[in-house]
Formats: sequence, structure tokens, C-alpha cells
Amino acid sequence: MSSTIEQNSPTTVMQERLDQFQARIDADEKIEPKDWMPEEYRKTVLRQMSQHAHSEVIGMQPEGNWILRAPCLRAKKILLAKIQDEGGHGLYLYSAAETLGTGREALIESLHNGKAKYSSIFNYPTLNWADIGAIGWLVDGAAIVNQVSLQRTSYGPYARAMVRICKEESFHQRQGYEIMTTMMRGNSAQKEMAQDAMNRWWWPALMMFGPHDKDSAHTQQSMQWRIKRESNDVLRQRFIDKTIDQAHLIGLTIPDEQLKYNEDTKHWDIGPINWDEFWQVVGGHGLCNEQRMKHHIRAHQDGQWVREAANAFAQKQISFN
Ligand code: 3HC
Repeated sequence: MSSTIEQNSPTTVMQERLDQFQARIDADEKIEPKDWMPEEYRKTVLRQMSQHAHSEVIGMQPEGNWILRAPCLRAKKILLAKIQDEGGHGLYLYSAAETLGTGREALIESLHNGKAKYSSIFNYPTLNWADIGAIGWLVDGAAIVNQVSLQRTSYGPYARAMVRICKEESFHQRQGYEIMTTMMRGNSAQKEMAQDAMNRWWWPALMMFGPHDKDSAHTQQSMQWRIKRESNDVLRQRFIDKTIDQAHLIGLTIPDEQLKYNEDTKHWDIGPINWDEFWQVVGGHGLCNEQRMKHHIRAHQDGQWVREAANAFAQKQISFN
């Protein structure tokens, strides 16, 4: 009798469900919105997806600064297309995040009250046109490495959103690299601008991949649940190895005196990353944190009437049907 009661005890039932869930993950099955999932899994995926969505939308600000100052109509059209893509990426990701049961308004409220983060990289200023090249080449280049890996994430809606987003990211990276290449073929002032942008954006781009694995609060669990398929350091190294060759090809210098190619590992060894700077920026004390948040809050408030009108129209449509 007692063994039957024990067999059906809540703890045993829960452990069986957790074991079955992990077996699905280990079999590389996709977890879909209506599937049973541990609350911690749901929370972790929601945290990462919502912060990813926030990053896409806030990332529109530094580049938006240069739409009216693009050097020619072609450059302006390309930048407009890229920024529009980023807004769309944010919408894909908010829609995918909402499948976990939390609405967009709540996600944006968490961003505005500081509970949710967005990528540190977007708290650096864009001082001139070379920065637009550096962002496309380095920031979108880093995002591609991360997002290609996330195409295999265990949560179905997130993986499918990544497939769609990655198709557009390669255009973003190429147009940035074209800007840097053009400037490095220009006069000495343009070359100096491109190198200065490289110097300012290289290390913050490496920080995009998050803390070292040994210092990462989430990587171990996220890897076990295959939310992350590769660790922060693995993805960072992949980005470093492919980007350094691209920099050297157009004559740019990597701002790292300790940079050295390791013939044994066949990877580039870099100097130490300034994690104090990283945590300062993540903690809200970067150069542009306040400006980015004020702008986002104001834009959200200004858009309140649009959301109300769209909802009213949608309600009317429902009542007609
Ligand atoms: N900026 C801000 N916060 C960061 C960060 C960064 N670059 N890297 C890590 N953090 C935060 C984490 O969010 C976590 O804080 P939290 O618990 O409050 O969320 C803490 O630092 C510990 O870091 P972990 O590495 O343990 O956290 P994760 O396991 O979440 O890994 C990540 C961090 C690698 C960024 C992961 O969340 C991820 O892959 N996210 C999806 C990709 C993404 O968000 N990219 C942002 C850029 S989007 C972009 O560039 C768009 C492009 O089109 C321009």
C-alpha cells in the first residue's frame, strides 16, 4: 500500500515529468508552447527571448541617429532597410516570447522598470559614419554567430524566429563590412575614422557574448536544456577567429597588443576583456544607457494611441464576424 502511495507522491510524479522532459530535450525534440515544461525552463527561455527582442528594438536607436546624415542616397536606403529589419526582428521575438504566456506590454514594462536587460553593445555612442560600418560588421557579425547557433535552440518558436532573422542578418553584416572596406580604400582621414571605430567597437562586440562560461549564471542549465547549443566562450572564439582575418584583409589593426595566433589550438588568443566595463554598462552606467531608455519610454508613450486604435479596430472586426 505505502509503495503505491509513494509511487504517486507529488515529488515522484514531478520527477517523472522532469525526466521525461529531459529525455525529449536529449532526443533533440522541439518544445512547443502547449507542451509541458518546467517553470524554470519557461522562465529562462522567456528571459532570454524578451531581452533579445528588447535588444533588437533598442539597437535601432544608435543607427537611427545616422539616417539623416548618411553620405549618399544609396547608403541611406541600405541603412533604412537594415533598421526596418531590426524592428521586424523585435516583433518576431516578442511574438515568439508571448507564446510563453506573458504579453508584450508586461515584457516592455520589465524593460522600462529595469527588471529586464538589453544588449550592452547598444549603450555605446555612434560618433560618425564609420561607426555604422563597425556596427553592421562587428555587432551584426557577432549576432549572426550567436543566432545561427540559436536556430537549434530547443524552444520551437524561438528556433523558427532565428531561422527567419538569420536570413536578414547576413545582409546587415555585409553592408557594414562594405562601409569599412570603402573607408579603408579612402583617404587618410577616412582610414583613421575606420580604425578609430574599430578601436571603440571591438571589445564591446566581444562582450556581447556574455561573461566567460565559468562566470555565467545561466550557461550550464541553458546548455542542459539546449536553450543554448554552444557556450558564450565557444561562440565568442568563433566570432574572433572569423573577424580578425576580415580586419587584416582590409588593413585594419585589432586593438589588442596581446593578440597572437596559437598554432597549437589554431585559434587567435586575445588579451583580457574588461569585465568591469561590461558590468558597469550592464548595470546601467554606460555612456548611453539613460538616453536609450528615455527614448524608448517616450516612443512607447507616443505610440499608445496607435496601439489603442489598432486594438479598437481589431475588436470591431471580431464583433462583425
Ligand atoms: N548585455 C547585457 N546583459 C548581458 C549580456 C550583454 N551582452 N551578456 C550577458 N548578460 C546578462 C544576462 O542577461 C544575465 O543577466 P540576467 O540573468 O539578468 O538575464 C547575466 O548577464 C549573466 O549572463 P549569462 O551569460 O549567464 O546569461 P545568458 O545565459 O542569458 O547568456 C546571452 C547571455 C549570450 C546574451 C544570451 O542571453 C543570448 O544568447 N541571448 C540571445 C541573443 C541576444 O540577446 N543578443 C543581443 C544582441 S541582439 C542584436 O545584436 C541584434 C542585431 O540585429 C544587431
